[in-house]
Amino acid sequence: MKYNLSEITEVIRNRRSITPEKFSPRRVHREQLELMLTNATWAPTHGMTQPWRFRVFLGDGMDSIRRFIPDLYRTSTASEKFNQAKFDRMALRLQRASAVIAVCMQRDPSGKIDEVEEIEAVACAVQNLMLTATAYGLGTFWSTPKLLNHADCHQFLELKDGDRCLGLVYVGYPEGEWPEQHRKPLEYITTWIEKNT
Ligand SMILES: Cc1cc2nc3c(=O)[nH]c(=O)nc-3n(C[C@H](O)[C@H](O)[C@H](O)COP(=O)(O)O)c2cc1C
Repeated sequence: MKYNLSEITEVIRNRRSITPEKFSPRRVHREQLELMLTNATWAPTHGMTQPWRFRVFLGDGMDSIRRFIPDLYRTSTASEKFNQAKFDRMALRLQRASAVIAVCMQRDPSGKIDEVEEIEAVACAVQNLMLTATAYGLGTFWSTPKLLNHADCHQFLELKDGDRCLGLVYVGYPEGEWPEQHRKPLEYITTWIEKNT
Protein backbone atom coordinates (compact mmCIF):
# COMPACT_ATOMS: atom_id res chain seq x y z
CA MET A 1 0.00 0.00 0.00
CA LYS A 2 1.44 3.37 -0.97
CA TYR A 3 -0.61 5.53 1.42
CA ASN A 4 -2.57 5.07 4.59
CA LEU A 5 -5.94 4.12 3.15
CA SER A 6 -7.83 4.14 6.41
CA GLU A 7 -6.77 7.71 7.09
CA ILE A 8 -7.63 9.01 3.63
CA THR A 9 -10.97 7.16 3.76
CA GLU A 10 -11.71 8.74 7.11
CA VAL A 11 -10.97 12.25 5.83
CA ILE A 12 -13.17 11.71 2.77
CA ARG A 13 -16.07 10.33 4.80
CA ASN A 14 -15.71 12.91 7.54
CA ARG A 15 -15.90 15.92 5.25
CA ARG A 16 -19.15 17.62 6.14
CA SER A 17 -21.08 20.62 5.02
CA ILE A 18 -21.44 22.66 8.18
CA THR A 19 -23.61 25.75 8.08
CA PRO A 20 -21.79 28.87 9.26
CA GLU A 21 -24.45 29.36 11.94
CA LYS A 22 -22.62 26.48 13.66
CA PHE A 23 -19.15 28.02 13.39
CA SER A 24 -17.31 29.15 16.51
CA PRO A 25 -15.52 32.53 16.68
CA ARG A 26 -12.14 30.77 16.36
CA ARG A 27 -10.21 32.31 13.45
CA VAL A 28 -8.94 30.47 10.42
CA HIS A 29 -5.38 31.35 9.42
CA ARG A 30 -4.22 32.43 6.01
CA GLU A 31 -1.63 29.59 5.97
CA GLN A 32 -4.44 27.05 6.31
CA LEU A 33 -6.31 28.65 3.43
CA GLU A 34 -3.14 28.69 1.36
CA LEU A 35 -2.72 24.93 1.74
CA MET A 36 -6.41 24.35 1.00
CA LEU A 37 -6.15 26.44 -2.17
CA THR A 38 -2.85 24.95 -3.28
CA ASN A 39 -4.26 21.45 -2.88
CA ALA A 40 -7.31 22.62 -4.81
CA THR A 41 -5.07 23.41 -7.77
CA TRP A 42 -3.91 19.77 -7.91
CA ALA A 43 -7.30 18.71 -9.23
CA PRO A 44 -7.50 17.18 -12.69
CA THR A 45 -7.83 19.70 -15.50
CA HIS A 46 -8.55 18.76 -19.10
CA GLY A 47 -6.03 20.43 -21.39
CA MET A 48 -4.27 21.87 -18.32
CA THR A 49 -6.44 24.97 -18.57
CA GLN A 50 -6.48 25.18 -14.74
CA PRO A 51 -9.77 27.12 -14.85
CA TRP A 52 -10.15 27.68 -11.08
CA ARG A 53 -9.94 31.21 -9.76
CA PHE A 54 -10.42 32.11 -6.12
CA ARG A 55 -11.25 35.35 -4.36
CA VAL A 56 -10.58 34.90 -0.70
CA PHE A 57 -12.28 37.13 1.86
CA LEU A 58 -10.52 37.04 5.20
CA GLY A 59 -10.08 39.27 8.25
CA ASP A 60 -11.08 42.87 7.49
CA GLY A 61 -11.57 41.77 3.88
CA MET A 62 -14.75 40.03 5.06
CA ASP A 63 -16.40 43.44 5.48
CA SER A 64 -16.89 43.94 1.74
CA ILE A 65 -18.68 40.63 1.13
CA ARG A 66 -20.65 41.00 4.36
CA ARG A 67 -22.02 44.23 2.95
CA PHE A 68 -22.25 43.23 -0.70
CA ILE A 69 -24.27 40.00 -0.65
CA PRO A 70 -27.14 41.12 1.62
CA ASP A 71 -27.26 44.50 -0.18
CA LEU A 72 -27.49 42.76 -3.55
CA TYR A 73 -30.27 40.54 -2.28
CA ARG A 74 -32.18 43.58 -1.03
CA THR A 75 -31.73 45.66 -4.18
CA SER A 76 -32.29 42.83 -6.68
CA THR A 77 -35.37 41.29 -5.06
CA ALA A 78 -38.83 42.61 -5.79
CA SER A 79 -40.41 43.83 -2.55
CA GLU A 80 -43.20 41.22 -2.68
CA LYS A 81 -40.58 38.46 -2.97
CA PHE A 82 -38.22 39.82 -0.33
CA ASN A 83 -37.83 37.33 2.48
CA GLN A 84 -36.58 38.86 5.71
CA ALA A 85 -35.65 35.48 7.21
CA LYS A 86 -33.55 34.66 4.14
CA PHE A 87 -31.87 38.08 4.34
CA ASP A 88 -31.11 37.61 8.03
CA ARG A 89 -29.71 34.12 7.47
CA MET A 90 -27.51 35.38 4.66
CA ALA A 91 -26.14 38.17 6.85
CA LEU A 92 -25.66 35.84 9.82
CA ARG A 93 -23.77 33.27 7.76
CA LEU A 94 -21.39 35.92 6.47
CA GLN A 95 -20.98 37.24 9.99
CA ARG A 96 -20.14 33.83 11.43
CA ALA A 97 -17.73 32.69 8.72
CA SER A 98 -14.07 33.25 9.41
CA ALA A 99 -13.33 33.27 5.70
CA VAL A 100 -15.29 33.03 2.47
CA ILE A 101 -13.83 31.76 -0.78
CA ALA A 102 -15.60 32.75 -3.97
CA VAL A 103 -14.87 29.84 -6.28
CA CYS A 104 -14.87 30.88 -9.90
CA MET A 105 -14.35 29.30 -13.27
CA GLN A 106 -12.28 31.27 -15.76
CA ARG A 107 -13.32 30.43 -19.29
CA ASP A 108 -10.41 29.66 -21.55
CA PRO A 109 -10.69 32.17 -24.44
CA SER A 110 -9.76 29.48 -26.98
CA GLY A 111 -12.88 27.52 -25.94
CA LYS A 112 -11.02 24.30 -26.71
CA ILE A 113 -12.41 22.63 -23.59
CA ASP A 114 -16.19 22.39 -23.10
CA GLU A 115 -17.54 24.63 -20.38
CA VAL A 116 -18.96 21.65 -18.49
CA GLU A 117 -15.49 20.14 -18.27
CA GLU A 118 -14.10 23.38 -16.90
CA ILE A 119 -16.87 23.39 -14.31
CA GLU A 120 -16.10 19.76 -13.45
CA ALA A 121 -12.44 20.61 -12.95
CA VAL A 122 -13.35 23.44 -10.57
CA ALA A 123 -15.70 21.13 -8.66
CA CYS A 124 -12.82 18.67 -8.23
CA ALA A 125 -10.71 21.55 -6.94
CA VAL A 126 -13.40 22.42 -4.41
CA GLN A 127 -13.40 18.84 -3.15
CA ASN A 128 -9.61 18.97 -2.63
CA LEU A 129 -10.06 22.25 -0.79
CA MET A 130 -12.78 20.85 1.45
CA LEU A 131 -10.87 17.66 2.22
CA THR A 132 -7.85 19.70 3.26
CA ALA A 133 -10.13 21.79 5.47
CA THR A 134 -11.46 18.58 7.02
CA ALA A 135 -7.92 17.50 7.87
CA TYR A 136 -7.56 20.79 9.81
CA GLY A 137 -10.84 20.13 11.63
CA LEU A 138 -12.44 22.99 9.70
CA GLY A 139 -16.01 23.00 8.50
CA THR A 140 -16.88 24.17 5.01
CA PHE A 141 -20.17 25.11 3.44
CA TRP A 142 -20.56 25.34 -0.35
CA SER A 143 -23.36 27.75 -1.06
CA THR A 144 -24.78 28.55 -4.50
CA PRO A 145 -27.32 31.36 -4.20
CA LYS A 146 -28.82 32.57 -7.50
CA LEU A 147 -27.37 36.00 -6.73
CA LEU A 148 -23.98 34.71 -7.88
CA ASN A 149 -25.24 34.93 -11.47
CA HIS A 150 -26.20 38.59 -11.11
CA ALA A 151 -24.21 41.06 -13.22
CA ASP A 152 -23.38 43.15 -10.13
CA CYS A 153 -21.91 40.07 -8.49
CA HIS A 154 -19.79 39.36 -11.55
CA GLN A 155 -18.53 42.91 -11.30
CA PHE A 156 -17.88 42.58 -7.57
CA LEU A 157 -15.84 39.43 -8.21
CA GLU A 158 -14.16 40.99 -11.26
CA LEU A 159 -15.29 38.20 -13.56
CA LYS A 160 -14.79 38.49 -17.29
CA ASP A 161 -17.21 37.47 -20.04
CA GLY A 162 -17.82 33.73 -19.94
CA ASP A 163 -16.45 33.34 -16.40
CA ARG A 164 -18.74 32.03 -13.68
CA CYS A 165 -18.88 32.03 -9.94
CA LEU A 166 -19.64 28.44 -8.92
CA GLY A 167 -20.16 29.09 -5.29
CA LEU A 168 -19.15 30.66 -2.04
CA VAL A 169 -17.31 28.34 0.30
CA TYR A 170 -17.67 29.44 3.90
CA VAL A 171 -14.89 28.27 6.19
CA GLY A 172 -14.81 28.10 9.96
CA TYR A 173 -14.25 25.95 13.01
CA PRO A 174 -17.48 24.22 13.98
CA GLU A 175 -18.88 24.61 17.44
CA GLY A 176 -20.21 21.45 19.08
CA GLU A 177 -20.66 18.06 17.47
CA TRP A 178 -19.26 17.23 14.04
CA PRO A 179 -22.39 16.40 12.04
CA GLU A 180 -23.17 12.96 10.64
CA GLN A 181 -24.41 12.10 7.16
CA HIS A 182 -25.36 9.04 5.20
CA ARG A 183 -24.96 7.79 1.65
CA LYS A 184 -26.74 5.23 -0.49
CA PRO A 185 -24.99 1.86 -0.42
CA LEU A 186 -23.01 0.84 -3.48
CA GLU A 187 -25.56 -1.69 -4.69
CA TYR A 188 -28.07 1.12 -5.36
CA ILE A 189 -25.76 3.14 -7.54
CA THR A 190 -23.47 0.66 -9.25
CA THR A 191 -23.75 -1.81 -12.09
CA TRP A 192 -20.82 -4.15 -12.42
CA ILE A 193 -19.97 -5.51 -15.83
CA GLU A 194 -17.64 -8.40 -15.21
CA LYS A 195 -18.60 -10.84 -17.90
CA ASN A 196 -18.01 -10.65 -21.59
CA THR A 197 -21.57 -10.62 -22.96
C1 LIG B 1 -22.40 22.22 -6.23
C2 LIG B 1 -22.97 22.23 -4.84
C3 LIG B 1 -23.73 23.29 -4.43
C4 LIG B 1 -24.28 23.34 -3.14
N1 LIG B 1 -25.04 24.42 -2.77
C5 LIG B 1 -25.64 24.42 -1.58
C6 LIG B 1 -26.49 25.50 -1.20
O1 LIG B 1 -26.68 26.46 -1.94
N2 LIG B 1 -27.08 25.45 0.02
C7 LIG B 1 -26.89 24.38 0.85
O2 LIG B 1 -27.50 24.36 1.93
N3 LIG B 1 -26.06 23.38 0.56
C8 LIG B 1 -25.42 23.35 -0.64
N4 LIG B 1 -24.58 22.33 -0.97
C9 LIG B 1 -24.19 21.33 0.06
C10 LIG B 1 -25.12 20.14 0.12
O3 LIG B 1 -26.31 20.52 0.72
C11 LIG B 1 -24.41 19.02 0.94
O4 LIG B 1 -23.25 18.62 0.26
C12 LIG B 1 -25.33 17.82 1.17
O5 LIG B 1 -26.35 18.14 2.06
C13 LIG B 1 -24.57 16.59 1.72
O6 LIG B 1 -23.98 16.91 2.97
P1 LIG B 1 -22.40 16.73 3.20
O7 LIG B 1 -21.71 17.70 2.27
O8 LIG B 1 -22.17 17.06 4.64
O9 LIG B 1 -22.03 15.33 2.89
C14 LIG B 1 -24.04 22.26 -2.24
C15 LIG B 1 -23.25 21.17 -2.67
C16 LIG B 1 -22.74 21.16 -3.96
C17 LIG B 1 -21.91 19.97 -4.41
